[in-house]
Amino acid sequence: MCRTNRSTWLVSVLIGAWLASGACEQQSASSDASGAPPATGPIRVGHYGSLTGPQASFGVATSNGIRMAIEEFNAAGGLNGRRIELIEYDTKGDAREAGAVVQRLVSSDRVVAVLGEVASGLSLAAAPICQENRVPMISPSSTNPRVTKAGDYIFRICFIDPFQGYVGAKFAREQLQSSRAACLFDQSAPYSVGLNEAFRKEYTALGGTITTEQAYNEGDQDFTAQLSTIRATNPDLVYIPGYYTDVANIALQARRLGITVPLLGGDGWESPKLVDIGGAAIEGAYFSNHYSPEDPDPRIQAYVAKYKAKYGDTPESMATLGYDAAVLPFDAMKRAKSLAGPDLRDAIAATKDFQGVTGKVTIDQDRNAVKPAVILQVREGKMRWVATVEPRR
Ligand code: PHE
Repeated sequence: MCRTNRSTWLVSVLIGAWLASGACEQQSASSDASGAPPATGPIRVGHYGSLTGPQASFGVATSNGIRMAIEEFNAAGGLNGRRIELIEYDTKGDAREAGAVVQRLVSSDRVVAVLGEVASGLSLAAAPICQENRVPMISPSSTNPRVTKAGDYIFRICFIDPFQGYVGAKFAREQLQSSRAACLFDQSAPYSVGLNEAFRKEYTALGGTITTEQAYNEGDQDFTAQLSTIRATNPDLVYIPGYYTDVANIALQARRLGITVPLLGGDGWESPKLVDIGGAAIEGAYFSNHYSPEDPDPRIQAYVAKYKAKYGDTPESMATLGYDAAVLPFDAMKRAKSLAGPDLRDAIAATKDFQGVTGKVTIDQDRNAVKPAVILQVREGKMRWVATVEPRR
Protein backbone atom coordinates (compact mmCIF):
# COMPACT_ATOMS: atom_id res chain seq x y z
CA MET A 1 0.00 0.00 0.00
CA CYS A 2 1.37 3.36 -0.95
CA ARG A 3 1.16 6.18 1.49
CA THR A 4 -2.20 7.82 1.57
CA ASN A 5 -3.41 11.24 2.52
CA ARG A 6 -3.70 11.06 6.28
CA SER A 7 -0.87 11.02 8.81
CA THR A 8 1.45 10.07 5.99
CA TRP A 9 4.41 11.91 7.35
CA LEU A 10 4.49 9.96 10.56
CA VAL A 11 4.33 6.65 8.81
CA SER A 12 6.79 7.86 6.24
CA VAL A 13 9.34 9.09 8.69
CA LEU A 14 9.32 5.74 10.46
CA ILE A 15 9.32 3.37 7.55
CA GLY A 16 9.84 5.67 4.60
CA ALA A 17 12.82 3.96 3.06
CA TRP A 18 11.18 0.58 3.17
CA LEU A 19 7.99 1.81 1.59
CA ALA A 20 9.79 3.88 -1.00
CA SER A 21 11.88 0.98 -2.18
CA GLY A 22 9.11 -1.57 -2.23
CA ALA A 23 5.52 -0.60 -2.03
CA CYS A 24 5.52 2.28 -4.48
CA GLU A 25 7.47 0.51 -7.18
CA GLN A 26 4.37 -0.10 -9.18
CA GLN A 27 3.75 3.62 -9.39
CA SER A 28 7.20 4.34 -10.79
CA ALA A 29 6.97 1.41 -13.16
CA SER A 30 3.84 2.82 -14.73
CA SER A 31 5.63 6.05 -15.68
CA ASP A 32 6.97 6.16 -19.22
CA ALA A 33 10.66 6.05 -20.06
CA SER A 34 10.95 9.84 -20.38
CA GLY A 35 10.28 10.10 -16.65
CA ALA A 36 6.88 11.69 -17.20
CA PRO A 37 4.42 11.12 -14.36
CA PRO A 38 1.77 8.41 -14.76
CA ALA A 39 -1.21 9.48 -16.89
CA THR A 40 -3.81 7.72 -14.79
CA GLY A 41 -4.57 7.26 -11.10
CA PRO A 42 -4.16 9.85 -8.36
CA ILE A 43 -1.92 12.86 -8.97
CA ARG A 44 0.73 13.01 -6.30
CA VAL A 45 1.67 16.32 -4.74
CA GLY A 46 4.32 16.59 -2.01
CA HIS A 47 4.52 18.82 1.04
CA TYR A 48 7.56 19.18 3.30
CA GLY A 49 7.08 21.22 6.46
CA SER A 50 8.06 21.62 10.11
CA LEU A 51 5.36 19.46 11.69
CA THR A 52 7.42 19.12 14.89
CA GLY A 53 10.23 21.18 16.44
CA PRO A 54 10.66 24.86 17.27
CA GLN A 55 8.68 26.03 14.22
CA ALA A 56 5.98 23.36 14.48
CA SER A 57 3.13 25.85 14.33
CA PHE A 58 4.37 26.88 10.85
CA GLY A 59 4.26 23.39 9.34
CA VAL A 60 1.03 22.29 10.96
CA ALA A 61 -0.86 25.42 9.90
CA THR A 62 0.49 25.12 6.35
CA SER A 63 -0.53 21.47 6.21
CA ASN A 64 -4.06 22.35 7.33
CA GLY A 65 -4.42 24.85 4.51
CA ILE A 66 -3.02 22.45 1.91
CA ARG A 67 -5.33 19.63 3.04
CA MET A 68 -8.37 21.86 2.85
CA ALA A 69 -7.46 22.93 -0.70
CA ILE A 70 -6.97 19.32 -1.78
CA GLU A 71 -10.26 18.18 -0.27
CA GLU A 72 -12.11 20.93 -2.08
CA PHE A 73 -10.39 20.22 -5.39
CA ASN A 74 -11.10 16.50 -5.15
CA ALA A 75 -14.70 17.08 -4.09
CA ALA A 76 -15.16 19.26 -7.18
CA GLY A 77 -14.06 16.39 -9.42
CA GLY A 78 -10.26 16.76 -9.31
CA LEU A 79 -8.41 17.09 -12.61
CA ASN A 80 -10.73 15.44 -15.14
CA GLY A 81 -11.72 12.94 -12.49
CA ARG A 82 -8.18 12.31 -11.18
CA ARG A 83 -7.76 12.98 -7.47
CA ILE A 84 -4.88 14.77 -5.85
CA GLU A 85 -3.01 12.63 -3.34
CA LEU A 86 -0.90 14.38 -0.72
CA ILE A 87 2.42 12.94 0.37
CA GLU A 88 3.77 14.84 3.35
CA TYR A 89 6.99 14.69 5.36
CA ASP A 90 8.22 16.39 8.52
CA THR A 91 11.35 18.54 8.22
CA LYS A 92 11.49 19.02 12.01
CA GLY A 93 12.61 22.55 11.20
CA ASP A 94 15.99 21.16 10.11
CA ALA A 95 17.65 22.02 6.79
CA ARG A 96 19.35 18.66 6.32
CA GLU A 97 16.12 16.82 7.01
CA ALA A 98 14.37 19.09 4.48
CA GLY A 99 16.87 18.07 1.80
CA ALA A 100 16.46 14.38 2.59
CA VAL A 101 12.66 14.32 2.49
CA VAL A 102 12.44 16.40 -0.68
CA GLN A 103 14.86 14.03 -2.37
CA ARG A 104 12.47 11.24 -1.41
CA LEU A 105 9.46 13.16 -2.75
CA VAL A 106 11.00 13.70 -6.17
CA SER A 107 12.83 10.41 -6.66
CA SER A 108 10.79 7.74 -4.85
CA ASP A 109 7.34 9.25 -4.62
CA ARG A 110 7.51 10.87 -8.06
CA VAL A 111 5.32 13.81 -7.11
CA VAL A 112 4.35 16.24 -9.88
CA ALA A 113 4.89 19.29 -7.66
CA VAL A 114 6.37 20.07 -4.25
CA LEU A 115 4.85 22.50 -1.74
CA GLY A 116 7.02 24.02 1.01
CA GLU A 117 8.79 25.15 3.09
CA VAL A 118 7.81 28.02 5.34
CA ALA A 119 11.25 28.97 6.70
CA SER A 120 13.51 30.39 3.99
CA GLY A 121 16.55 28.47 5.25
CA LEU A 122 14.75 25.17 4.64
CA SER A 123 13.41 26.18 1.23
CA LEU A 124 16.96 27.17 0.27
CA ALA A 125 18.15 23.69 1.24
CA ALA A 126 15.53 21.85 -0.82
CA ALA A 127 15.08 24.07 -3.88
CA PRO A 128 18.20 22.83 -5.75
CA ILE A 129 16.86 19.26 -5.50
CA CYS A 130 13.55 20.20 -7.11
CA GLN A 131 15.39 22.23 -9.74
CA GLU A 132 17.73 19.39 -10.62
CA ASN A 133 14.85 16.93 -10.91
CA ARG A 134 12.68 19.38 -12.87
CA VAL A 135 9.83 19.20 -10.40
CA PRO A 136 8.13 22.55 -9.79
CA MET A 137 8.39 23.71 -6.18
CA ILE A 138 6.09 26.36 -4.73
CA SER A 139 6.94 27.86 -1.39
CA PRO A 140 3.87 29.18 0.40
CA SER A 141 5.69 31.61 2.61
CA SER A 142 9.48 31.75 2.30
CA THR A 143 10.21 35.42 1.74
CA ASN A 144 14.02 35.45 1.28
CA PRO A 145 14.80 36.56 -2.31
CA ARG A 146 17.44 33.84 -2.81
CA VAL A 147 14.87 31.03 -2.63
CA THR A 148 13.52 31.33 -6.18
CA LYS A 149 16.98 32.11 -7.56
CA ALA A 150 17.74 28.38 -7.26
CA GLY A 151 16.28 28.09 -10.77
CA ASP A 152 13.33 28.28 -13.12
CA TYR A 153 11.35 25.50 -11.38
CA ILE A 154 11.20 27.35 -8.06
CA PHE A 155 8.23 29.61 -7.29
CA ARG A 156 6.57 31.28 -4.34
CA ILE A 157 3.09 32.57 -3.62
CA CYS A 158 4.14 35.27 -1.13
CA PHE A 159 5.89 38.64 -1.37
CA ILE A 160 9.65 38.88 -0.78
CA ASP A 161 11.65 40.52 2.01
CA PRO A 162 12.92 43.56 0.11
CA PHE A 163 9.24 44.54 -0.03
CA GLN A 164 8.52 43.44 3.54
CA GLY A 165 11.49 45.53 4.76
CA TYR A 166 10.08 48.51 2.89
CA VAL A 167 6.65 47.97 4.46
CA GLY A 168 8.13 47.93 7.97
CA ALA A 169 10.37 50.94 7.34
CA LYS A 170 7.57 53.00 5.80
CA PHE A 171 5.22 52.18 8.67
CA ALA A 172 7.92 53.03 11.23
CA ARG A 173 8.78 56.35 9.61
CA GLU A 174 5.32 57.53 8.58
CA GLN A 175 2.90 56.05 11.10
CA LEU A 176 5.08 55.70 14.18
CA GLN A 177 7.13 58.80 13.38
CA SER A 178 10.27 56.87 14.22
CA SER A 179 13.64 58.38 13.31
CA ARG A 180 16.07 56.28 15.40
CA ALA A 181 15.64 52.51 15.10
CA ALA A 182 17.77 49.77 16.68
CA CYS A 183 17.80 46.29 15.04
CA LEU A 184 18.11 42.88 16.67
CA PHE A 185 18.22 39.98 14.20
CA ASP A 186 18.81 36.21 14.13
CA GLN A 187 22.14 35.65 12.40
CA SER A 188 21.45 31.91 12.11
CA ALA A 189 18.38 32.38 9.86
CA PRO A 190 18.75 33.56 6.23
CA TYR A 191 15.23 34.99 6.56
CA SER A 192 16.16 37.22 9.48
CA VAL A 193 19.49 38.35 8.01
CA GLY A 194 17.82 39.30 4.73
CA LEU A 195 14.86 41.06 6.28
CA ASN A 196 17.15 43.03 8.56
CA GLU A 197 19.18 44.21 5.56
CA ALA A 198 16.05 45.22 3.70
CA PHE A 199 14.73 47.18 6.67
CA ARG A 200 18.05 48.98 7.18
CA LYS A 201 18.22 49.97 3.50
CA GLU A 202 14.64 51.25 3.31
CA TYR A 203 14.60 52.95 6.70
CA THR A 204 17.77 54.93 5.98
CA ALA A 205 16.52 55.73 2.44
CA LEU A 206 13.46 57.26 4.11
CA GLY A 207 15.73 59.46 6.25
CA GLY A 208 15.89 57.41 9.46
CA THR A 209 19.01 56.50 11.44
CA ILE A 210 19.87 52.96 12.59
CA THR A 211 21.38 53.38 16.06
CA THR A 212 22.83 49.85 16.29
CA GLU A 213 22.42 46.36 14.76
CA GLN A 214 22.71 43.50 17.23
CA ALA A 215 22.62 39.76 16.47
CA TYR A 216 21.56 36.53 18.23
CA ASN A 217 21.21 32.86 17.29
CA GLU A 218 17.94 30.91 17.21
CA GLY A 219 17.25 29.40 20.61
CA ASP A 220 19.42 31.84 22.61
CA GLN A 221 18.04 32.42 26.08
CA ASP A 222 19.84 35.55 27.27
CA PHE A 223 19.62 38.75 25.25
CA THR A 224 20.84 41.08 28.03
CA ALA A 225 24.09 42.11 26.34
CA GLN A 226 22.43 43.03 23.03
CA LEU A 227 19.49 44.77 24.71
CA SER A 228 21.76 46.77 27.02
CA THR A 229 23.70 48.02 24.01
CA ILE A 230 20.44 48.87 22.27
CA ARG A 231 19.15 50.76 25.31
CA ALA A 232 22.37 52.79 25.48
CA THR A 233 21.84 54.06 21.91
CA ASN A 234 18.49 55.54 22.90
CA PRO A 235 16.33 54.36 19.96
CA ASP A 236 12.65 55.27 19.48
CA LEU A 237 11.88 51.79 18.04
CA VAL A 238 13.39 48.30 18.05
CA TYR A 239 13.10 46.24 14.85
CA ILE A 240 13.24 42.47 15.48
CA PRO A 241 13.02 40.43 12.25
CA GLY A 242 13.04 36.98 13.92
CA TYR A 243 10.83 33.94 14.57
CA TYR A 244 8.15 33.99 17.26
CA THR A 245 9.78 32.05 20.10
CA ASP A 246 12.92 34.19 20.21
CA VAL A 247 10.96 37.39 19.61
CA ALA A 248 8.70 36.71 22.59
CA ASN A 249 11.71 36.08 24.84
CA ILE A 250 13.39 39.25 23.57
CA ALA A 251 10.24 41.28 24.28
CA LEU A 252 10.10 39.95 27.87
CA GLN A 253 13.74 40.83 28.51
CA ALA A 254 13.53 44.20 26.75
CA ARG A 255 10.64 45.33 28.94
CA ARG A 256 12.44 44.06 32.04
CA LEU A 257 15.46 46.16 31.09
CA GLY A 258 13.26 49.25 30.83
CA ILE A 259 13.04 49.47 27.03
CA THR A 260 9.55 50.88 26.53
CA VAL A 261 9.66 52.01 22.88
CA PRO A 262 7.55 50.21 20.24
CA LEU A 263 8.74 46.84 18.93
CA LEU A 264 8.32 46.07 15.23
CA GLY A 265 8.93 42.87 13.27
CA GLY A 266 7.92 40.71 10.31
CA ASP A 267 5.89 37.65 9.34
CA GLY A 268 8.07 35.33 11.45
CA TRP A 269 6.17 36.66 14.48
CA GLU A 270 2.94 35.03 13.52
CA SER A 271 2.05 32.26 15.93
CA PRO A 272 -0.27 31.98 18.93
CA LYS A 273 2.94 31.25 20.86
CA LEU A 274 4.09 34.85 20.41
CA VAL A 275 1.43 35.98 22.85
CA ASP A 276 1.50 32.82 25.01
CA ILE A 277 5.18 33.42 25.76
CA GLY A 278 5.41 37.20 25.40
CA GLY A 279 2.27 38.10 27.37
CA ALA A 280 2.11 41.75 28.40
CA ALA A 281 5.63 42.39 27.06
CA ILE A 282 4.48 41.94 23.47
CA GLU A 283 1.30 44.03 23.87
CA GLY A 284 1.25 46.97 21.49
CA ALA A 285 3.97 45.57 19.23
CA TYR A 286 3.55 45.66 15.43
CA PHE A 287 4.55 43.30 12.63
CA SER A 288 4.17 43.05 8.87
CA ASN A 289 2.28 40.03 7.58
CA HIS A 290 0.60 38.45 4.54
CA TYR A 291 -3.08 38.94 5.29
CA SER A 292 -5.52 39.48 8.12
CA PRO A 293 -8.36 37.06 8.89
CA GLU A 294 -10.22 40.18 10.09
CA ASP A 295 -10.25 41.60 6.58
CA PRO A 296 -13.92 42.19 5.68
CA ASP A 297 -13.32 41.07 2.05
CA PRO A 298 -16.09 38.48 1.46
CA ARG A 299 -13.64 36.05 -0.15
CA ILE A 300 -11.50 36.10 2.99
CA GLN A 301 -14.49 35.83 5.31
CA ALA A 302 -15.92 32.85 3.38
CA TYR A 303 -12.55 31.10 3.59
CA VAL A 304 -12.11 31.90 7.30
CA ALA A 305 -15.59 30.49 8.04
CA LYS A 306 -14.83 27.25 6.15
CA TYR A 307 -11.49 26.86 7.89
CA LYS A 308 -13.00 27.50 11.32
CA ALA A 309 -15.71 24.94 10.68
CA LYS A 310 -13.09 22.36 9.73
CA TYR A 311 -10.31 23.02 12.24
CA GLY A 312 -11.98 24.98 15.03
CA ASP A 313 -9.64 27.96 14.94
CA THR A 314 -8.77 31.04 12.93
CA PRO A 315 -6.39 30.49 10.00
CA GLU A 316 -3.05 32.23 10.35
CA SER A 317 -1.16 33.46 7.28
CA MET A 318 0.75 30.21 6.93
CA ALA A 319 -2.47 28.19 6.70
CA THR A 320 -3.90 30.53 4.13
CA LEU A 321 -0.69 30.73 2.11
CA GLY A 322 -0.57 26.91 2.24
CA TYR A 323 -4.08 26.87 0.82
CA ASP A 324 -3.18 29.33 -1.96
CA ALA A 325 0.11 27.55 -2.70
CA ALA A 326 -1.87 24.34 -3.33
CA VAL A 327 -4.65 25.90 -5.38
CA LEU A 328 -2.16 27.64 -7.69
CA PRO A 329 -0.66 24.43 -9.18
CA PHE A 330 -4.15 22.88 -9.39
CA ASP A 331 -5.13 25.86 -11.51
CA ALA A 332 -1.92 25.47 -13.54
CA MET A 333 -2.58 21.73 -14.06
CA LYS A 334 -5.79 22.63 -15.86
CA ARG A 335 -3.87 24.90 -18.22
CA ALA A 336 -0.73 22.75 -18.62
CA LYS A 337 -0.05 20.68 -21.77
CA SER A 338 0.74 17.72 -19.51
CA LEU A 339 1.74 17.05 -15.91
CA ALA A 340 5.38 16.54 -16.87
CA GLY A 341 7.73 18.89 -15.03
CA PRO A 342 8.55 21.24 -17.94
CA ASP A 343 4.89 21.63 -18.97
CA LEU A 344 3.62 22.20 -15.45
CA ARG A 345 6.47 24.63 -14.85
CA ASP A 346 5.49 26.65 -17.93
CA ALA A 347 1.86 26.81 -16.82
CA ILE A 348 2.78 27.98 -13.32
CA ALA A 349 5.17 30.60 -14.72
CA ALA A 350 2.37 31.94 -16.92
CA THR A 351 0.08 32.59 -13.92
CA LYS A 352 -1.59 36.01 -14.16
CA ASP A 353 -4.17 37.54 -11.84
CA PHE A 354 -4.77 34.24 -10.05
CA GLN A 355 -7.29 35.01 -7.33
CA GLY A 356 -5.96 33.55 -4.08
CA VAL A 357 -7.41 34.14 -0.63
CA THR A 358 -4.32 36.19 0.30
CA GLY A 359 -4.72 38.37 -2.78
CA LYS A 360 -4.45 38.41 -6.53
CA VAL A 361 -1.24 36.73 -7.66
CA THR A 362 0.78 37.39 -10.78
CA ILE A 363 4.03 35.45 -11.00
CA ASP A 364 6.79 37.84 -12.06
CA GLN A 365 9.88 37.05 -14.15
CA ASP A 366 11.77 36.04 -10.99
CA ARG A 367 8.95 33.59 -10.07
CA ASN A 368 7.85 35.66 -7.10
CA ALA A 369 4.35 36.88 -6.31
CA VAL A 370 3.67 40.59 -6.28
CA LYS A 371 1.10 41.36 -3.57
CA PRO A 372 0.22 43.84 -0.83
CA ALA A 373 1.24 43.34 2.82
CA VAL A 374 -0.53 44.19 6.07
CA ILE A 375 0.63 45.57 9.40
CA LEU A 376 -0.88 43.92 12.48
CA GLN A 377 -0.70 44.99 16.13
CA VAL A 378 -0.90 42.80 19.22
CA ARG A 379 -3.82 44.17 21.21
CA GLU A 380 -5.28 42.37 24.22
CA GLY A 381 -3.47 39.26 23.03
CA LYS A 382 -5.07 39.38 19.56
CA MET A 383 -3.43 40.28 16.27
CA ARG A 384 -5.39 43.21 14.96
CA TRP A 385 -5.24 44.73 11.49
CA VAL A 386 -3.73 48.24 11.38
CA ALA A 387 -2.77 48.98 7.76
CA THR A 388 -2.40 47.55 4.27
CA VAL A 389 0.59 48.54 2.15
CA GLU A 390 0.36 48.14 -1.64
CA PRO A 391 3.29 46.94 -3.75
CA ARG A 392 5.67 49.62 -4.99
CA ARG A 393 5.35 50.55 -8.62
N1 PHE B 1 8.77 34.39 5.79
C1 PHE B 1 9.40 33.53 6.72
C2 PHE B 1 10.67 32.98 6.11
O1 PHE B 1 10.89 33.16 4.94
C3 PHE B 1 8.52 32.41 7.18
C4 PHE B 1 7.16 32.77 7.67
C5 PHE B 1 6.12 32.99 6.79
C6 PHE B 1 6.90 32.87 8.99
C7 PHE B 1 4.85 33.32 7.23
C8 PHE B 1 5.65 33.19 9.44
C9 PHE B 1 4.62 33.43 8.56
O2 PHE B 1 11.47 32.35 6.73
